[in-house]
Amino acid sequence: MSGMTDTLPPLPAAAAAQLDDQTVHVWHLGYRRALGRLPLLRILAAYLGVDADELQLTQDAHGRPRLDPRHGTALDFNWSHSGDHALVAIARGIAPGVDVERRRARPRALALARRFFDAAETAALAALPVGARDDAFLTLWTAKEALLKAHGRGIGYGLQRLRVAAPPQPLQLLRFDGEDVGAWQLQRLDLAPELVAALAWRGSPRKVRAATLLADIE
Ligand SMILES: CC(C)(COP(=O)(O)OP(=O)(O)OC[C@H]1O[C@@H](n2cnc3c(N)ncnc32)[C@H](O)[C@@H]1OP(=O)(O)O)[C@@H](O)C(=O)NCCC(=O)NCCS
Repeated sequence: MSGMTDTLPPLPAAAAAQLDDQTVHVWHLGYRRALGRLPLLRILAAYLGVDADELQLTQDAHGRPRLDPRHGTALDFNWSHSGDHALVAIARGIAPGVDVERRRARPRALALARRFFDAAETAALAALPVGARDDAFLTLWTAKEALLKAHGRGIGYGLQRLRVAAPPQPLQLLRFDGEDVGAWQLQRLDLAPELVAALAWRGSPRKVRAATLLADIE
């Protein structure tokens, strides 16, 4: 699947009305650790037409946060934060998984790959020139995390349980233990030059629509 995304209306409340079961919405937000989940809650509240302080989240046995069933069961979400940035993915009828990392030098990329990645992924990274390796490592890392977050078990389930085609190959899920690979969607998100990000879900292909909202949302 390509990394192409369509843009959303710049206000979450306006975008919310356009979320159907053929799309996934992605918001790129400013983030500060001190805010905790507030940026996420504000986006979700806009989609539900309620105040953020009325929202209740629950989490399943593996720690995946979800909306409390009192808000209905159709809407699901996932979010990821890295430095000053956060991404929120929202969809109806599927469980999205999203992961973002800042692009920066990763001197331990190969060591981390040897420890946590599949052997074929590690070999593909090792074959790359050093200048291309950090980006490729982050591409694989965010893809695998997004898949594991959509799956719901998080990275504790094991990054080596799945294999993703390594750059320069196009992003593609090749193996996911216990899963039908053809049932999964995986997409790179190109939202800002300093970020590497991926979005995944189990289900049919959908259009991904994204917007950046770096100011605090109302
Ligand atoms: C949670 C986890 C996905 C974090 O990844 P990360 O890259 O450090 O952080 P990200 O910013 O991308 O994602 C964090 C968000 O993922 C969400 N999340 C937590 N557990 C999740 C899970 N099992 N599945 C999907 N999403 C999860 C949360 O919303 C969390 O943010 P919040 O607590 O601020 O709301 C990862 O640590 C994990 O898989 N933990 C599961 C528990 C576990 O396996 N522990 C043992 C680790 S060896």
